[in-house]
Amino acid sequence: MNILIVGTGYVGTTTGLIFCELGHKVTGLDLDLQKIQALQAGKLHFYEPGLEDLLKKHTDAKNINFTNQTENAIKANDVIFICVGTPQGTDGNADLSFVKNVAQSIGQHMNQYKVIVTKSTVPVGTAALVTSVIAENQSTPIPFDVVSNPEFLREGSALQDALHPDRIVIGTTSETAKAIMRELYKDFSCPVVETHPTASEMIKYAANSFLALKISYINELARVCDKLSINVNDVSNGIGLDHRINPHFLKAGMGYGGSCFPKDVNALIYTAQQQGTPLLILEAVVNVNAEQPIYFIEKIKQALGGELKNKTIAVLGLSFKANTDDTRESPSFTLIERLLAEKAIVKTHDPMVKSGVPHQMLTIEETVTGADALVLATDWKEYKKLHWESVKPLMKQPVIFDGRNMLDKDQVQKLGFYYFGISNH
Ligand code: UGA
Repeated sequence: MNILIVGTGYVGTTTGLIFCELGHKVTGLDLDLQKIQALQAGKLHFYEPGLEDLLKKHTDAKNINFTNQTENAIKANDVIFICVGTPQGTDGNADLSFVKNVAQSIGQHMNQYKVIVTKSTVPVGTAALVTSVIAENQSTPIPFDVVSNPEFLREGSALQDALHPDRIVIGTTSETAKAIMRELYKDFSCPVVETHPTASEMIKYAANSFLALKISYINELARVCDKLSINVNDVSNGIGLDHRINPHFLKAGMGYGGSCFPKDVNALIYTAQQQGTPLLILEAVVNVNAEQPIYFIEKIKQALGGELKNKTIAVLGLSFKANTDDTRESPSFTLIERLLAEKAIVKTHDPMVKSGVPHQMLTIEETVTGADALVLATDWKEYKKLHWESVKPLMKQPVIFDGRNMLDKDQVQKLGFYYFGISNH
């Protein structure tokens, strides 16, 4: 099948390359010429482990090509995946401008029956909206179907997640479109959920919100555990072994960030409010998440004598989690803003993040030299594997605040560090 992927971010590019692996011919469409040129040359414009090798493989084999020529791309392809961004709008709901623009172009340039698939995270009712925008923009009516097919890829492990999905969700009322989607995904052995587009759209938000809920639950519990000198990691382990709960997304930290959870939880809250049935539980999830960096800053402040003014703090990690260069809604930035507001001197390091950083990039050694304390803000394995014996003499005071509970506390304490984690007793 000829597949068009509109939007070449980590979702679009990963999805396109997976279809190449399955033997399809794929076109990636993006309006950003620089991105297109880089991708065509086999270079990713973002960091995603393993993806660049696959890109090179399929650009060399001419299984995928990239273009900014909208009209030709739409005309030449049978199935069109919409993978553009849906950032948070001012009212908390997802901003659908990019999705609507794509739908408009599809309507204008359609020449024969096509299946249009929304993979972008979009609120309930978007499949219907896309259908009406396409229809309104057609000069003569040509049949088409719109399918909701949400993605469940995590940044940093997008390729693995795409190759080994837990499930595939297909939301459509059209038997023709259903048959085409089944054919596209026929090589996957996971369960396929076939449902109405609105249920499919809800599944995506409900999944992300449930995972965010688990994180806020363990983070709030961690604060109580901290007061009671209980190790929250043991609690996560102890409850996670119950298969009804499972161990995933129970790692206490500085709060969830990224381009998905914060915006998606807010969008679902918005949808619920619009229906007059507020999702109180998710409102609490958001509040707990907002408070988590504050709890951690207070911990840092208390341990450093109640004042952060003129204290040099080395912040290790800027991305919202390891294995990505994405800093959107990164708890690390919330922490840095707070530290600066308390008049601390902040030095930062990240193995991948190269742009948009508030300070000049330093090596790890330069970052920690002369520091009154260091904060582990992202769970990069580079930090876990640091030679802590060599770090200690560089610091003014050997104090570690582990915002990800990633170090072996006993080991660093043996080396003479003062260690403070998230209820990591
Ligand atoms: C998330 C979902 O996990 C994907 O399934 C979904 O497809 C994606 O959003 C999306 O909607 O596109 P992602 O945002 O890449 O993926 O990252 P996650 O691995 O889910 O982590 C989100 C945040 O939660 C990170 O800040 C992470 O550090 C934090 N987290 C995660 C914890 O604090 N504790 C945990 O136990 C797990």
